[in-house]
Amino acid sequence: MGAKAETKTNVLELLTSQHAELDALIGKIERGKDARAAFQEMADKLAAHATIEEKIFYPAVMSKKLDDLLHESVEEHLEIKRVLADMLMLDNGSDRFMAKLTVLKENLSHHAHEEEEDKMFPMLRRSMAEDELVAIGNRCLVMFEDLLPQHPSRNVPNETKKAAVLPQPR
Ligand SMILES: [Fe+2]
Ligand SMILES: [Fe+2]
Repeated sequence: MGAKAETKTNVLELLTSQHAELDALIGKIERGKDARAAFQEMADKLAAHATIEEKIFYPAVMSKKLDDLLHESVEEHLEIKRVLADMLMLDNGSDRFMAKLTVLKENLSHHAHEEEEDKMFPMLRRSMAEDELVAIGNRCLVMFEDLLPQHPSRNVPNETKKAAVLPQPR
């Protein structure tokens, strides 16, 4: 039991390591090695990652300063989910699948690295205390590990109409 509850997970480090894992899985799919299993794993981890950000992380860090960036982020999530939902219906390795994989990779790279890691996370590192970031990280990790075995990519096709709703800045 204890191990999980006692883990000290700064949310910014948790999310950054999940981005790196998603990149690695996309690389695996591109190389065609265990591509089917790698795609299923990537789809579920990407879906769970988006959910913990939308349900826990973004609401927890919402502020007047981050309002625009967070709304842009949920719109970027929507674009990424639309591509992923298309890919879930295509044959692994088909030309269209591979074309969409390239689009997914570009969208994800822009969102995760340029928007989150390079803009949002540095602002939060300056404005929030380490113990707050750890508390949010622990909640995110619990939800992520709870979601993952439920194959959360199955819900992605139902999340392609509109972006996740965020709370008003306090
Ligand atoms: Fe995100
Ligand atoms: Fe992210």
